[in-house]
Amino acid sequence: MRGIRTALAATTFLAGIGAATATDLEVTHWWTSGGEAAAVKVMADAFNASGNNWVDSAIAGGGNARPIIISRISGGDPMGATQMNTGRDAEDLVKAGLMTDLTALAEKEDWASIIRPAKLLDSCKYDGKIYCVPVNIHSFQWMWLNRGVFEDNSLPVPANWDEFAAAAPQLREKGVIPLAVGGEAWQINGMAGVFMVALGGVDLYRKINVDKNVETASGPQMTQVFEAIAAARDMVDDGFVGRAWNDAANMVITGKAGAQIMGDWAQGEFGVAGLTAGKEYDCLPGLGVNPVLDTGGDAFYFPKPKDNNPEIVAAQLELASLLVSKEVQVDFNLKKGSLPIRGDIDLAAANDCMKKGIAILENPDNILPGGEQTWSSDSTGQLEDLWVEFFTDPDMPVAEAQARFVEIVENAD
Ligand code: GAL
Repeated sequence: MRGIRTALAATTFLAGIGAATATDLEVTHWWTSGGEAAAVKVMADAFNASGNNWVDSAIAGGGNARPIIISRISGGDPMGATQMNTGRDAEDLVKAGLMTDLTALAEKEDWASIIRPAKLLDSCKYDGKIYCVPVNIHSFQWMWLNRGVFEDNSLPVPANWDEFAAAAPQLREKGVIPLAVGGEAWQINGMAGVFMVALGGVDLYRKINVDKNVETASGPQMTQVFEAIAAARDMVDDGFVGRAWNDAANMVITGKAGAQIMGDWAQGEFGVAGLTAGKEYDCLPGLGVNPVLDTGGDAFYFPKPKDNNPEIVAAQLELASLLVSKEVQVDFNLKKGSLPIRGDIDLAAANDCMKKGIAILENPDNILPGGEQTWSSDSTGQLEDLWVEFFTDPDMPVAEAQARFVEIVENAD
């Protein structure tokens, strides 16, 4: 029903701004898992209902998709629209003047008042103009647990990391992999960020990720974070290297594993599997230790079309407007497992975990700068390489890993 309402709303919306000409818009994104596909379909359906045509170009895996998207735009073969992470991914493309300016639309629709937290829209700005539209708020600071795995083995469902770590050996004895992990670089890097916040504390996280403070990066608190991550190396299975994040989520969904530390897009998988938050699975923001969230997420960019084709630009603006609309924001985020970029909508259907997230975000002190907004692509790549090496090599000493970490922080651009 809701989907029909979305479509009708979209049609009504566009009727209000004059007859929409049917234009094909090629849209690139990396949302290929079950939950992601269900979510992006909400956007496509709304755009098609507007009389245009969403030409889907999905590229699996952010690590694969991002360079392809960037090289196509910089190489003169632009798509009509693309998903990227909120943050600095498209920085060079915007600076090169390759992206459609959305400022007039943003001002007409007063995005500055609608979109919160304000830094989501700030991430889209360059030289005072707006070049992207944020579409969701994702946070990596979550842990997802299969309740049955603990209950069926007469173990209390952990309420925090320490309780989980204590239960891990008992899970292993029962033939359950304690922690499901995917070995892709961004997953390991993201998980390290969660440990920094949860076990190192918010102050440590800010000092390192925002201030790039070398003393904190080399300090004893950060040593403890490295030691916790080293301990987590003993909670995973041998097959994690290269595993996709949604395959790791599926291990928790099916009870092969007890838990996964992953962004809240994992919820989309639990939703598609028909599981209910608080019933079959639990969620621990900040590993149940420091319930704060980073507000990373996704934004849509609109590369300038060849010959500045005005029909394409018109369709780009129509899509941008739909993505911010209340209907699409509710339907898309419920499927994506993310939080909406606007506070003036009623997420009545939000599940227990989304409600936890919304409550956390209501206090600005609980919001961290997302990694993708505070590290350049180059520094992010260096951090990812270090965390992957440290996590996959049990013989790599904490001291060596931390020394390299300090060097990256010291030279961060
Ligand atoms: C992130 C993206 C999320 C989710 C995740 C896994 O970069 O922001 O929307 O899709 O990748 O694919």
